[in-house]
Amino acid sequence: MEIKYSHSTDNVDWGQVSNLFRTVSWSHRDPDALRRAFSRSTHVRFALCKEKIVACGRTIDDGEFYAMVVDLVVSPEFQGEGIGRKILCELKDASESFIFTTLISAVGKEPFYQKQGWLKQKTGFIWPRSEQQSADHAICD
Ligand SMILES: CC(C)(COP(=O)(O)OP(=O)(O)OC[C@H]1O[C@@H](n2cnc3c(N)ncnc32)[C@H](O)[C@@H]1OP(=O)(O)O)[C@@H](O)C(=O)NCCC(=O)NCCS
Repeated sequence: MEIKYSHSTDNVDWGQVSNLFRTVSWSHRDPDALRRAFSRSTHVRFALCKEKIVACGRTIDDGEFYAMVVDLVVSPEFQGEGIGRKILCELKDASESFIFTTLISAVGKEPFYQKQGWLKQKTGFIWPRSEQQSADHAICD
């Protein structure tokens, strides 16, 4: 199947993006909120198959020092085909000028990032917004 990539938020069907998040069982993302969030992101990537959005990823940053990769999602039926690796690599390269480029892995996806050369942080902190978030992301010692 031919996959096309887009770097633009122009003409995006945000309902499709919302549905993409649903396919990987992430919490509901309102299409309009997605449009606002992606439009404020420095680098965005979409992968499309026959005009349908099957993957996405984006970076947020302060324009000077810090950048973060977020919302890397590949639809289950397109996983394992190198789409996630390609989008992650492009977003990482696009953020080359920043001192820190970080990301928070979804639970269980750490090996995917390690395989692409990302290193686990020794000193990362997260403010706990919920017990679930603490359980998923915090080391309580
Ligand atoms: C994690 C995710 C983005 C990976 O995307 P993908 O397109 O399926 O991954 P790729 O096909 O590009 O895989 C690249 C390599 O990583 C490996 N890999 C992919 N997912 C992996 C996982 N969960 N654990 C270990 N290795 C993994 C692949 O086997 C492949 O290895 P290879 O280079 O030896 O062939 C995708 O599975 C996904 O969207 N999952 C649901 C949403 C999610 O959790 N996103 C992460 C947000 S932090």
